[in-house]
Amino acid sequence: MSKTSKETFYISTPIYYVNDIPHIGHAYTTIIADALARFNRLRGKDVFFLTGTDEHGQKIEKAAAEKGVTPLALANTVVGRIKDLWKALNISNDFFIRTIEPFHEKGVQKIFLRLKEKGDIYKGTYQGWYCVSDENFLAEDVPLQPEGDKICPDCGKRALLVSEECYFFRLSAYQEPLLKFYSENPGFVRPPGRMNEVVSFVRQGLKDLSITRTTVKWGIPVPDDPKHTIYVWFDALHNYLTGAGYDWDLKKFERFWPADIHLIGKDILRFHAIFWPAFLMAAGFPLPHTVYGHGWWLKDEAKMSKSKGNVLDPHVILKTFGPDPLRYFLLREIPIGVDGNFSHEGFLHRVNSDLANDLGNLVHRTLTMILGYQKGVVEAGDDEQENDRAIREGFEALKGRVSELFEDYALSKALEEIWAYINAVNKYLADNEPWKLAQDGTKKQRLARILYQSAAAIRGISYLIYPVMPGSAQKIWNLLGETKAVAEEPYEGCRFENLRTGTKIQRPSPLFPRVALKDFLQEEVPSSAAPKKEERMDIINFDEFKRMDLRVGEILKAEKVPGTDKLLKIEVNLGTEKRTMVAGVGDVYTPEEMVGKKLIVIVNLKPAVIRGIESQAMLLAAETGGKAIIPFFDRDVPAGAKVK
Ligand code: MSP
Repeated sequence: MSKTSKETFYISTPIYYVNDIPHIGHAYTTIIADALARFNRLRGKDVFFLTGTDEHGQKIEKAAAEKGVTPLALANTVVGRIKDLWKALNISNDFFIRTIEPFHEKGVQKIFLRLKEKGDIYKGTYQGWYCVSDENFLAEDVPLQPEGDKICPDCGKRALLVSEECYFFRLSAYQEPLLKFYSENPGFVRPPGRMNEVVSFVRQGLKDLSITRTTVKWGIPVPDDPKHTIYVWFDALHNYLTGAGYDWDLKKFERFWPADIHLIGKDILRFHAIFWPAFLMAAGFPLPHTVYGHGWWLKDEAKMSKSKGNVLDPHVILKTFGPDPLRYFLLREIPIGVDGNFSHEGFLHRVNSDLANDLGNLVHRTLTMILGYQKGVVEAGDDEQENDRAIREGFEALKGRVSELFEDYALSKALEEIWAYINAVNKYLADNEPWKLAQDGTKKQRLARILYQSAAAIRGISYLIYPVMPGSAQKIWNLLGETKAVAEEPYEGCRFENLRTGTKIQRPSPLFPRVALKDFLQEEVPSSAAPKKEERMDIINFDEFKRMDLRVGEILKAEKVPGTDKLLKIEVNLGTEKRTMVAGVGDVYTPEEMVGKKLIVIVNLKPAVIRGIESQAMLLAAETGGKAIIPFFDRDVPAGAKVK
């Protein structure tokens, strides 16, 4: 019954509740899954990417009642919104499962009966604290009051101790088999820290699980005993079987089961890493290969939730930027195992710096030069010199590395490496100064070679970013004269020299619009600069240091800020863009003497408005006796070069 072929790849997202519309946190899980699905398709795998909705249970019943609609009507509306969002985000799922569909309900009932016959499901009595007002059993960890009863944490009313007939799943019998399975399959739960969490939880002992309710109507009826409905988690987890064809498309099911990866948020780890494998063991199915618990996106350091009022609606960003900048940001900003704090400044900085500057400019200037100097036709030019070879070989090495990192779910690192290559190509252009070669009629062949290397590198880059930014990748691909879809080129076959000479390229328009923070937020940027830190500093690791984007800046203009003693407004050239900054150095330096000097600036610091001027970068200086002394470069370095 289990698949033997390594050619398939089955990836799932959790199925989303339909009590409310999805936010950026939900989009995150789906975007990770989409990037992995697309990557595996490029690798030539037969991919099955499943997502869908979790539509039964009390949560939905209650939300519908509050809105005065039926649960089905609410579910239909929210499902529509979820599907629209996935479309707007360019999600390429192969199937969308809804748990209200008959094939799913039948599949769950069949498994329920199988476990009942086997004795792993039995009827018993559940005793617990019941909130009549909420029609809900309180969680076991709600503390006892001094009077010996419990208060409902949701509505504050006194709960009643009641006994209810229900069916139990014999989870206690699976404690040892689970522990054995974890020790034989240490990669089952990832990242590894989460595996430790699961193992220590199971070691503490597992109690049998109540898996039916008589108080919930909106659920799958227990076969032969319909006054009970099946508990929503028992119902929902089985979507991974029924969605893949269990009991209605057995050919498909045999091809894809067991899943390669169930991608989930860390909040639902126990359900997936403990209950789910126990259910599967009981029913005799092979177990999934990996359960990956990703971190949360926080807003203002708290998990997004409607009750906290801190949810971010992805549509706001999608309207201005389209899907790719958001996809890129979410996958690039944090490794998928850890939490990240979402800020609009952080988002905008990444988009402006990595997408508009680094990638956008590389594409724009390379293609513009091919159009301007070679009538838009790709030529091979001279033989490769050493630095040209480094660009070609750099791509081949990068391709191997990106593949390893994707296999390891290290998407952020893969993007980091792709961007290091983008910047190497930018540097190659800056070092070789093709715009100067174009002035010299004898250097045409050399010029053509440099432009070929850059364009071939761009073709390769667009291929590698395809899983994360499919739309932009395809756009760049088409600019380079390709007519087929990126995804038609197999990973192994994507070579640097696939850029054919004689190809006619298209005129580029900006790929990633630059948006100013104030237009994006439509509110004031904080007007005070960061307060000064105490002298004693914490030890930081290299990764933290690397988060600072330090660049060589060349001062183009400097002038006094009127009405201040020492503030200068400075315009600085960063190689690919100009920025304005305000610095308190006018008591040491005159504006005239600063022009033409090169210095170090940090370019990814949150902008600050100083005296009404937005300072978009900060220069580095030594402070002594209240004066700022700037370390200028004593050798020539190109503006924009990275300082590290
Ligand atoms: N219906 C269950 C899953 C059943 S799977 C058999 C559920 N649904 S959910 O809609 O509440 O959440 C779905 C996923 O979104 C979870 O993986 C959850 O971790 C993720 N996220 C919800 N908010 C999130 C963030 N703020 N950040 C990242 N992911 C978060 O749970």
